[in-house]
Amino acid sequence: MQVLDFGSLNVDYVYSVPHMIRGGETLLSRKLEVFAGGKGLNQAIALAKAGVEVYMAGQIGDDGGILLDECQKYGVRTDFIRTLPGKGGHTIIQVDDEGQNSIILCGGTNRQQSREHMDAVLAHFGEGDFLVLQNEINLLDYLIDRAYERGMRIVLNPSPFDENLATCDLHKVWLFMLNEIEGEQITGEQDPEVIIQRLQELFPDSRFVLTLGSRGAIYAHGELKIRQEIFRVKAVDTTAAGDTFTGFFMAGVLQEKQMEEALRLASAASAIAVSRPGAAPSVPTMEEVGLFISSQRHSIKGYG
Ligand code: RIB
Repeated sequence: MQVLDFGSLNVDYVYSVPHMIRGGETLLSRKLEVFAGGKGLNQAIALAKAGVEVYMAGQIGDDGGILLDECQKYGVRTDFIRTLPGKGGHTIIQVDDEGQNSIILCGGTNRQQSREHMDAVLAHFGEGDFLVLQNEINLLDYLIDRAYERGMRIVLNPSPFDENLATCDLHKVWLFMLNEIEGEQITGEQDPEVIIQRLQELFPDSRFVLTLGSRGAIYAHGELKIRQEIFRVKAVDTTAAGDTFTGFFMAGVLQEKQMEEALRLASAASAIAVSRPGAAPSVPTMEEVGLFISSQRHSIKGYG
């Protein structure tokens, strides 16, 4: 069984600011740091650091050396990352004193995907293999359809949520990894319990992990519902916390851990990521997650 993450790779330009900039304001930043990022890359690195062999597929530009280096540093397979001429995907990220962020995304080569490249990559994968997706590349609908035809199990983090997703047949998704805002955008509901209920009505064959910020996360599949509380840490930079959660939860699933354990690993890993600056560099290793969990008091509650 193989794991393919087909998605975005971004160079993140992270500006430390005293507060998020307002319309018409000019604001001096305290510091600029440049990190490897992109939801696709972050999730691939989280999978790799959690001990999973993962192939990353996507497209970088002339400026993407840092992204290839970061993947290779952590053992992400880069066979299916290709370089196109021109500027690659990048972001301008503000991080304020509370560690909150706001992100301007420029798609670059992430938004120049072709059906031919997707077909060529998918030809190496088949029945039972996993495909991890986010929503920062074009042709996501095509990728989902072709992967489903091949019998791959599709894991979708529908982030950032936009009209692109309306063209996708989401019934083909095996597992949704989403936050409550995305849950509301898909279902029109706000209460987490109702979001889950509505998602299950819309996509009865799928599994769901709904993350709820400081209120933890819920896993739901059929009658089974499991709740995980968060590990409290001082926030330095929340960038890639969700990607870290996705990567570690998937690693737990792939390593055939109990769902409770997969949720706990994901929650601990994302807490560590929040306590560190940057996107990909903030993702911990599985060893660090184990040490963190044993140093914390945690609680898991079954419910429903
Ligand atoms: O989820 C965090 C990521 O979102 C950042 O690394 C940035 O590149 C954006 O894609």
